[in-house]
Amino acid sequence: MTEAAIPVLTIDGPSGSGKGTISRVVAGRLGWHYLDSGALYRAVGVAAGWADLDLDDAGALVRCAFDTGIGFRDDAAGELRVLVNGHDATDELRTETAGAAASAIAAIPEVRSALKERQRAFRKAPGLVADGRDMGTVIFPDAAFKVFLTASAEERAERRYKQLKDKGVSVTLDGLLREILARDARDASRAVAPLRPAEDAVRIDTTGQGIDSVVERVLALVPGRTA
Ligand code: C5P
Repeated sequence: MTEAAIPVLTIDGPSGSGKGTISRVVAGRLGWHYLDSGALYRAVGVAAGWADLDLDDAGALVRCAFDTGIGFRDDAAGELRVLVNGHDATDELRTETAGAAASAIAAIPEVRSALKERQRAFRKAPGLVADGRDMGTVIFPDAAFKVFLTASAEERAERRYKQLKDKGVSVTLDGLLREILARDARDASRAVAPLRPAEDAVRIDTTGQGIDSVVERVLALVPGRTA
């Protein structure tokens, strides 16, 4: 199969829109590969932290984006683990600190270019579900299937709150809502690859909707794949 013939389903949206969970389930149902592009930005942010790099030093961050070893593997429970320079950094990657670092470095155009080919390399047969902010607009503009998920900021903050509390992380709902709004504003207003739906994306508002119904709506877009 030529690369262009390998089908891609892009699922973009702001943090907490449910795209990570939905994308993983949809990829599993289709038997396709899965790309969590946010994990790449988070991994570079975490690696930059380990190396004590200044988040204003664009040159050093670009080198870090090229040099950081990033690997994915499923653990025994089927959970996706992320390895950064050989270390399992999954838990550290999920923190709000890592998210904020990712969002800051993701605004640097050269960092985005450094990660472009690494993301495209995930396009392998029989297909790819790619989750992020610019999957449908920049990384896979030729994708056959594009979805843009949204949800109210309040509901997104509540989802994050539950996730983090379950993991024993101490946070406040107010603080999370503020961080989510700040990250949305930064992601939507940056000059390169701002968060916006591709023109040909199907928009799905997940506010008040369960995972199963959103999964079914997404799968219905992929012909012959809903069984
Ligand atoms: O999706 P996730 O919350 O893990 O992404 C972390 C940050 O990485 C986002 O806030 C965004 O700034 C950046 N990102 C991006 N482009 C992507 C995926 C993530 O700019 N495709």
